[in-house]
Amino acid sequence: MEYLKGKRILLGVTGGIAAYKCCELIRLLRKAGAGVRVVMTPAAEQFITPLTLATLSGAEVLRDLFPSGGSVDHISSVREADLLILAPATANTLAKMAGGIADNLLTCCLLAARIPVLAAPAMNCAMYENPATAANIRTLRERGVHFVGPDVGWQACGESGPGRMSAPEAIFREAADLLLRPGQIRGTMVITAGPTEEPLDPVRTLTNRSSGRMGYALAGAAAMLGWRVRLISGPVTLDPPPAVDLIPVRTAAEMMDAAWREAKEADCFVGCAAVADFRPDHAARNKIKKCGEESLKLTLVPNPDIIRTIAGLDTVLAVGFAAETEHLAEYARHKLATKDLDLIVANDVSSTETGFGSEDNAALMIFRDGREVSLPRMRKEDMALRIISEINDLLDRQSRESAPV
Ligand code: CTP
Repeated sequence: MEYLKGKRILLGVTGGIAAYKCCELIRLLRKAGAGVRVVMTPAAEQFITPLTLATLSGAEVLRDLFPSGGSVDHISSVREADLLILAPATANTLAKMAGGIADNLLTCCLLAARIPVLAAPAMNCAMYENPATAANIRTLRERGVHFVGPDVGWQACGESGPGRMSAPEAIFREAADLLLRPGQIRGTMVITAGPTEEPLDPVRTLTNRSSGRMGYALAGAAAMLGWRVRLISGPVTLDPPPAVDLIPVRTAAEMMDAAWREAKEADCFVGCAAVADFRPDHAARNKIKKCGEESLKLTLVPNPDIIRTIAGLDTVLAVGFAAETEHLAEYARHKLATKDLDLIVANDVSSTETGFGSEDNAALMIFRDGREVSLPRMRKEDMALRIISEINDLLDRQSRESAPV
């Protein structure tokens, strides 16, 4: 999903062996829709070529403090960017930053930056632990520079300790968090996603085929469109989208507890999880054995209906999903009414091309006032943006209507 569409990153690369990892960082940023411009120090060119970074970023690399054309790249490049990422950030460049030294194009950019700066330190563990480096990092933190890492572990110099640059994925997530935390927050949206798992015994569970993709796409879209997002997720194999707080749960009871706790403080609740309607009346303490039995009888007891409980809180806008294999609109209207929802998004899960486990979805949105909007087959990420936009419009309309005239 292009979470970072329209965002511009200035990536400063300094002279450390971890410079090779910034290739992957550029790929992640561009895949997320961000524009990337690279500025290198002369030392960085000892480790990686400008051609590599120009090819990956799709733009000429900035390297020359005194370009022949007289352009002032250090001013224009930071003025145009939304975030400056320093990866790797060597002890030397951090020291120059702390001391206000501007002796190459990148350190000039850092001194001229009025935008957020995210530094990913990378250096030998002894250099990292040196009191001078520690003091420089402390100073920079106090001045508002953001840091990610370093990690602890094996280092290229053969020693082990703190100083390894964070993985490109971790730097990407921090950068996305900084870029997406909205200045103007609409409020808090709680989203449930994925399946729940009800234990039968220590090794077996009752669950369903929900992949969590739709709920995770909604969480990403909500973060992009101005919400602080709390994502309560059953067990899935997905990474949470950037700038989203993940609350992992397993059973429906755990999801209920988390939903109740979070929704009391929230403005909107979106129930996208495929919650198990029933659970075994008890989970066996030990593994259930065959013991020559012809059949096994399970007694199931109902789980709480999470969204119906939350919709009882008058303070939240409640949005439900209806997964149906027949009579889509009829069953969805019934759920909208019985669960007291403001909006229900109904989708047909009998088709293999849309619904559970697939990349696409098609849906019918039904509002409390009877209005219906049909969403044709599209990628779940696109559908998520449409749904969150509709929720935003609905809330805007409601606040206009309740505003004093
Ligand atoms: N839901 C919930 N808690 C449950 C069951 C469902 O919060 N115990 C929510 C789902 O997250 C979804 C909506 O209720 O937003 C509808 O879920 P769905 O599985 O389609 O319907 P059910 O209420 O379970 O009814 P049925 O299984 O009979 O279709």
